Amino acid sequence: MKKAIVIGGTSGIGYELAKILLSNNYKVCITGIENDFINDLKNSAQKNLEVQYLDCLENNPSQKIREFTEQLGGLDLLVLSAGIGNLNRNRGFTAENNANKLNVLAFTEIADYSYRFFENKGDGHFIAITSVSGHFGSCVAPAYHAAKSYQMVYLEGLRQKARRARCQKKSVYVTDIRPGFVATRMTQGKKMFWASSPEKAGRQIYKVIKNKEEYAYVTKRWSMIAFILKVLPKWVRVRF
Ligand SMILES: NC(=O)c1ccc[n+]([C@@H]2O[C@H](COP(=O)([O-])OP(=O)(O)OC[C@H]3O[C@@H](n4cnc5c(N)ncnc54)[C@H](OP(=O)(O)O)[C@@H]3O)[C@@H](O)[C@H]2O)c1
Repeated sequence: MKKAIVIGGTSGIGYELAKILLSNNYKVCITGIENDFINDLKNSAQKNLEVQYLDCLENNPSQKIREFTEQLGGLDLLVLSAGIGNLNRNRGFTAENNANKLNVLAFTEIADYSYRFFENKGDGHFIAITSVSGHFGSCVAPAYHAAKSYQMVYLEGLRQKARRARCQKKSVYVTDIRPGFVATRMTQGKKMFWASSPEKAGRQIYKVIKNKEEYAYVTKRWSMIAFILKVLPKWVRVRF
């Protein structure tokens, strides 16, 4: 039986993906920070599901992942879905820096740890949920967009490493999932278009993972928006 950890798997996109992994014969450990969610999920006593508290801002995430891996009895897949995105109204440095601690610092620690773990082991798959937001700056949430851009470029670097590792017969994969809008707690009350349900997003992400794709837009039609964003001239982008 394959083993997976979903960081930020107690709600939203991560939770839907965790459910799909469970139904595909994975043993799954999900983590979150809301004790009510964690207790409800623990009480649901689902087979092959472990639920753990992990605040990436307070705890040492790589040490925790090591512990969860031992409890699971191994690790084949690590999905990093945790993120702070609710930065509407441009709340200033304190809020932005707090988001950066998760979206940049903890992201880097978890991505680096997971990649090295899988490379040393000789196989494994690291998946991170970034965003279409990483393709452009935004006056509404400057740090969020900048952090997602950082994540996308960081993952490109890891994918290069993974390609080299595969030339040495190691089966290591890195996938960047770039959602557009998904109706979760993060986007509650936000004006959205082409918003997907978390269930649909979870299904599409699972297919991408199964096919070991390098990156993918969720839902697929967001690849059109990404293309337009990439070719738009700077004088148009500055008017967003
Ligand atoms: N929703 C969208 O439209 C959208 C679009 C593009 C990208 N994304 C990205 O998708 C990912 C998942 O977002 P979502 O929409 O599923 O949001 P969500 O429902 O709010 O899920 C966020 C997850 O992150 C966890 N989390 C929050 N702060 C944490 C911390 N300090 N340490 C550890 N875990 C923490 C939450 O735990 P609790 O449940 O315990 O709070 C939750 O499990 C994020 O990286 C987000 O940037 C979302």
